[in-house]
Formats: sequence, C-alpha cells, structure tokens
Amino acid sequence: MSDPHSNDPAGGPAKGRPAPRKSGARAAPREKVAPPTTGHSWDGIEEFDNPMPRWWLWTLYATIIWGIIYTILYPAWPLPGGATPGILHETARKEVAADIQKFQEMNAPIEAKLVATPVTEIAANPELANFAQNAGHAVFQTWCAQCHGAGAAGAKGFPNLLDNDWLWGGSLDDILTTVTHGIRNTTDPEARFSQMPAFGEILTKEQIGQVMNYVMSLTGAAQDPAQVDAGKQLFADNCASCHGEDGKGDRAQGAPNLTDSIWLYGGDPATLTETITNARFGVMPAWQGRLTDAQIRSVAYYVHSLGGGE
Ligand code: HEC
Ligand code: HEC
Repeated sequence: MSDPHSNDPAGGPAKGRPAPRKSGARAAPREKVAPPTTGHSWDGIEEFDNPMPRWWLWTLYATIIWGIIYTILYPAWPLPGGATPGILHETARKEVAADIQKFQEMNAPIEAKLVATPVTEIAANPELANFAQNAGHAVFQTWCAQCHGAGAAGAKGFPNLLDNDWLWGGSLDDILTTVTHGIRNTTDPEARFSQMPAFGEILTKEQIGQVMNYVMSLTGAAQDPAQVDAGKQLFADNCASCHGEDGKGDRAQGAPNLTDSIWLYGGDPATLTETITNARFGVMPAWQGRLTDAQIRSVAYYVHSLGGGE
C-alpha cells in the first residue's frame, strides 16, 4: 500500500534510498537574501528595512477609516465657538439631562409628599425618612461638604454639625431656617444676622488682654489669673449682652457659648485676641432658590440626624 511517491511521512521513503523528488519541487534550499537595512547601525547591530506586516497595516487603515466615520457622526473637532456637533447630534449633556429627568419623574411623588409633611413628622414615616436621609446625604456631599467637611466635622470658622453645640439652634425647624435663609449673606433678607463689634476700636490693648483672660478662665485655662478679675467686669459691660452673663451664648444672636471648650475659631490666646480685636463675620449662603424645597428639607433632616440634632 505504501506509495514511495506519496508525501505521507508515515509511509516515507526507506532509509538508505535517495529521497524521491516531488514533481516541480524546489531545487536546493533557498539562499538567504539579507533584507535591505535602513543604514542605521548601533554598535554593529543594523536595522532591517522590512515592510510592515500586512495585518498591522490593515489595522492601521481600519482605525483611520473608523476615525473619519466617527468624526462625521459624533462631536469631534474643537472650534472657537464649540466643537463640531456630528450628524447624529449626540451629546453627553442630552443623555445626562434625560437621566436626570427620569429620576426626577421617579422621585416627584415622594418629593411632593416630603414638602407637604411638616419636617418634625418625617421621622414617623419610614419611607419618607429613608428618602430624606439618602437625598440629604447626596445634597450635603455636593453643596455643603466644601465648607463643613465631607464628614460634617467642620473646620475653623465652619461649624461642626456632628456635635450638640449649636450657634443658631439644633432643632429640625432651627436647622431648616438656617439652611433655607443662610447666615449673614446679602442675598436673603431673612438670613440670620448678628454682628460682633470689633473691640480693637472700643477697648485698649490692655483691656482686650484682660477680657481675653477672663474668656479663657471660663473653660478653666486662664493664661494670666491676675487679669481675670478686671476682665470679668469688662465682659459684663461689653460682651454679656450677646454671650450672656455666664458666657453660655445666645442662639437668638448666633453668639457662641464660650464655656464649653468648643471653638468655632479657636481658644488659644492669639486666636482669642484676634477674634476680640477684629471680630468675625461668618457667612453662609442661602439655599432657598438654589436648591428645591425637597432638597433643603432632606439636607436639614440629614444634618439633624448626624448626632447633634435636638
Ligand atoms: C460657603 C461656605 C458654606 C457652605 C457651602 C455651607 N455652609 Fe453652613 N455654615 C457656614 C458658616 C460660615 C456657618 C457659621 C456661620 C456663623 O458663624 O454663624 C454655617 C452654619 C451652618 C449651620 C448652623 C450651625 C449651628 O451651629 O447653628 C447649619 C445647620 C449649616 N451651616 C448647614 C449647612 C448645610 C446643610 C449646607 C449645604 C446645603 C451648608 N451649611 C453649606 C458656611 C457654609
Ligand atoms: C453684638 C453681639 C456680640 C457682642 C457684644 C460680643 N460678641 Fe462675641 N460673638 C458674637 C457672635 C455673633 C459671634 C460669632 C461670630 C461668627 O460666627 O462669625 C461671636 C464670637 C465670639 C468669639 C469666637 C468664639 C469661638 O468659638 O471661636 C469669641 C471668643 C467672642 N465672641 C468673644 C467676645 C468678647 C470677649 C466680647 C466682649 C468684649 C464679645 N464677644 C462681644 C456676638 C457678640
């Protein structure tokens, strides 16, 4: 059965016999022809000037054609007045707007309910409470975190919203008013307002040192006990009208409690002297008009839930 002319390796030619020639087979093994080089040579290593592999070239052509089609269909070339729109008129903005619209429609009924429910009754309705908590958290991260911190722990001049120390009040209604109208801003006529005078223009440096020492003594850390007595009288005359006889503050005026070691600006001698000499004027924007009623209620509910709500 074995055919000596077949190419089948199993039935190949017997040893010793000269290998049979295939008809039209190549003659001698091809001589290697060195491809041309680019002429570059690094330490004797030369660079061949081979043509690009075919698959590579076709991939390149395909990407060029894809690129041209893409720039025709989609926004592509930046021009002074905006990018070319592309014939499909696709924009990411349109998609986002559609998504937002979808979510707004989904949330519309529960938002309407939230606005219609008194804030103090939100907690009694688990569905509303859950929605307000989540929506409030999202609003807080977007609009409040840059001043009050992502965790709401505040920073110098920006109150901590986690503790139960409140400048203007920590009930849900108080927080709702603060967030709606803001504090000491010029845009909302109903903004919470008060202004501590700059005592650098009213008291001498020595008197400021005395009253500063008295303020420090309220938290048990007077720097110079000898000055505290004189400071006590100065406090009663100049400060008690806002901060209270006992220094415990007055929420009606947003005047901080000076006896609790919780400082908005700082309780060290240098910072206290700076506060008393030049006063402070913390400003918070009004959110009415910027956020929807449902967003404001949600974020007020969220802030109230953070631990320090009353
Ligand atoms: C531009 C900075 C800024 C942004 C943004 C901001 N706040 Fe405030 N916020 C302040 C400052 C400053 C105060 C303190 C003002 C003062 O000294 O009385 C304050 C005070 C408050 C208070 C009163 C705290 C208290 O002790 O009575 C609440 C509540 C509050 N902010 C909530 C929010 C919420 C909710 C948002 C987001 C919707 C927000 N804030 C966004 C700056 C900001
Ligand atoms: C007209 C009311 C008013 C008077 C009078 C007043 N304060 Fe104030 N004080 C405030 C208010 C309001 C703030 C908060 C300012 C802010 O948040 O921007 C404040 C803030 C402070 C702070 C900062 C507290 C902190 O937590 O960092 C100190 C300290 C202080 N006052 C001391 C005094 C002393 C001392 C006097 C008297 C010499 C005085 N104040 C008189 C209203 C007043």
